[in-house]
Amino acid sequence: MVANLNNRAVKLILPNAVGHERIAMASLASFAKMHGYSLARIEDLKTVVAEAAINAMEHGNKGRSDAVVNIVFHYGDDAIHILVSDQGEGIKKVLPQPDIERIVKEIDPPVGFGMFLIRQLADEVDFNTDVTSGHCLKMVIRK
Ligand SMILES: Nc1ncnc2c1ncn2[C@@H]1O[C@H](COP(=O)(O)OP(=O)(O)O)[C@@H](O)[C@H]1O
Ligand SMILES: [Mg+2]
Repeated sequence: MVANLNNRAVKLILPNAVGHERIAMASLASFAKMHGYSLARIEDLKTVVAEAAINAMEHGNKGRSDAVVNIVFHYGDDAIHILVSDQGEGIKKVLPQPDIERIVKEIDPPVGFGMFLIRQLADEVDFNTDVTSGHCLKMVIRK
């Protein structure tokens, strides 16, 4: 555990290219280790930040090479708070929970797992549906 780190934010600016989410995963894993998170919970953190960053790149920034994904995380109130921002228009439509049986039978398309995982693993999730200057997904993960 590292003392005196509370409320000190870490900020990353990722290029808008899939693969760079690994930088966020590695940074967040180190940060969570400093704050005494278990290995299992660190895996949860890596999953949610990766899904959020890829969504920001693909859905928010629509793959634009001039866009960036901003990621900020800090520890406060006994939890890690993560913000993942893009320059898109927000989440317009919240997909229903994916139905594995229907996906396997190819009735439904294999989409919607990212937000599903984020909702399952994070203690709090918040996102914007109506934005003018970029979208931000907020997640809170307790130990
Ligand atoms: N950052 C974002 N900006 C705009 N729309 C988003 C964003 N993140 C998610 N979405 C919307 O939510 C949907 C569900 O996301 P997700 O569960 O990760 O599934 P998938 O990425 O496989 O489509 C996406 O298809 C998209 O319409
Ligand atoms: Mg996704």
